[in-house]
Amino acid sequence: MADPGAESGDESVTTDLADIDLTRSELVRKGFPHEIFTMLRREAPVWWHPMPDGLPVKTDEGFWVLSKYDDIQAVNRDTELFSSADGPSLSLNPEMKGAMLVSMDGHAHIRQRQIISAGFTPRMVGRLEDQARRWAVSIVEDALEKGTCDFVADVAYQLPMHMIADIVGIPPEDRQWLFTLTNDFLQGSDPDHPISREQQMGKQVEMFQYAQQLCEEKRKNPQDDIWTIISTFEMEDDKGERSAMSQIELNFFFLLLTVAGSETTRNAISGGLLALLDHPDQLETMRSDPSAMRPAVEEIIRWTSPVAYFARRATRDTQIRGVKIAEGQRVTLWYPSANRDEDVFDDPFRFDIHRKSNQQIAFGGGGAHFCLGANLARREIAILFEELLKRTTKIELLKRPKYNSLSLFNPIYLALRELPVRLS
Ligand code: HEM
Repeated sequence: MADPGAESGDESVTTDLADIDLTRSELVRKGFPHEIFTMLRREAPVWWHPMPDGLPVKTDEGFWVLSKYDDIQAVNRDTELFSSADGPSLSLNPEMKGAMLVSMDGHAHIRQRQIISAGFTPRMVGRLEDQARRWAVSIVEDALEKGTCDFVADVAYQLPMHMIADIVGIPPEDRQWLFTLTNDFLQGSDPDHPISREQQMGKQVEMFQYAQQLCEEKRKNPQDDIWTIISTFEMEDDKGERSAMSQIELNFFFLLLTVAGSETTRNAISGGLLALLDHPDQLETMRSDPSAMRPAVEEIIRWTSPVAYFARRATRDTQIRGVKIAEGQRVTLWYPSANRDEDVFDDPFRFDIHRKSNQQIAFGGGGAHFCLGANLARREIAILFEELLKRTTKIELLKRPKYNSLSLFNPIYLALRELPVRLS
C-alpha cells in the first residue's frame, strides 16, 4: 500500500546520479522519490543539480541538493551564511524578494515575525483548541453521514482550512471560494490540471484583491484576528521610523498564511491516515490508548514531511562536507530526506508510532524561520485523529490514492489528491 513517504514516484526512476532530474513531475506521482534521496545520502550528500533548459520559470543555472539531516540542520540555522532573501522556491520572483516573511533575513525578518506572533495572543491560542475540536467533530460527523468519502477533500482539507481562516479572520461564507482559488492556483502546475500561466496569474490577482478588500474591512471594523493586526500594524525600521506594511507585503503575507496554514497540515493528515491504514495495529493502539497520540503525531509528521524543500543562497564561499559552495549559489534543504536519514533514525523506513526520541525536522531545522504554525499543526492533527477514531470502528481504503504532481517550483508539491475511504 502506498503512502506519501514510503513509496517512490516512478518505477522507471533512475539509479544513476547523472540522470537525476528533480524537475520531472512524474517523480512524485506516487509520493516523494525516496530511492533517489537514499542514493544521494549514500553517494553524494552534497550534490549539484544542473537546471534543465526550457523551464517555464526563471531560475538559477543549478542548485545544491542537501539530503543529510545534519547538513540541513546546520544550513537552516546559519542565516548569515545562507540567506533566505530569494524565498523558499527554486523559481525566482524578484517581486517576492524581501517582501514575504519566508524571503527575509535579519532584522526585517525578526520584525515581521513579531507582528504575526502578536496575533497569537494567549486568548487566541486558548480559543483555538476549542475551535479545532468543534470543527473536527462536525467534519468527521459529516463524513460519517456520507459513509463513503474522499478523505482528502471531505476531511483533511476542511480542518486546516477552517482553522487558518478563523485565525486570519476570513468570513465563513468566503472560505470555500477562496481556498478553491488557492488550490487551483497551486495546482496550475500539475500536468493533469493544466491551466495557462495567464490563468494562474489571474487567480493570484484575485487572491490579492481579496486580501486588500479584507484589509479595508478590518481597518473599518477591527476584530480579534490576525488580519486586523497585520492590516493596522506599524513597523519600526532601522532608523526608528514607523510605517504600515506595503500592499505587496500584505498580499504575500496573505498568500503565505493561507497556503502554509492549510496545504501542509492537510497533507500530514491524509498521508497520516494512509500510513495508519497500512499499519492497522498502530491505528488500533491510537484508538485505545490516548497516550499514544503525541508520539503518533510526531511520527505522522516525520513520515509525511509535507514540505519537500526550502532553498537558501550562500552569501560567501564556503564548504559542506568538503564540497565547495560558491558565493551566490543556491542550496536546497530536503526535509523528507533528512527525516529518513539512516544516521539519525533507527530503521527510518519503518512507520512506528512508538518511535523513541523522534527528532523529526519537518518544521525546519530550528533556525530563525522555524515554522510558526508547528504547534497549531500538531494540535490539529491530534484533535482530528482523536475525533475520527472515537467516532469510527472501521476505516477502509476503497481505491489506491492519487497524488498531485505539482511542479518542483512549489516547495509544498507533495500531496495526496484523493483518498477514497469508507467510514463506519
Ligand atoms: C504539518 C504542517 C506544517 C509543516 C510540515 C510546516 C513546515 C514548515 C517549514 C519547513 C517551514 C520553513 C522553516 C525554515 O525555513 O526553517 C515553515 C515556515 C512557516 N510556517 Fe509552517 N508548516 C506546517 C504548518 C503550518 C501552519 C498550520 C501554519 C499557520 C500558521 C504555518 C505557518 C508558517 C509560517 C508563517 C512560516 C514562515 C516562518 C518564517 O519564515 O519565519 N505552518 N513551515
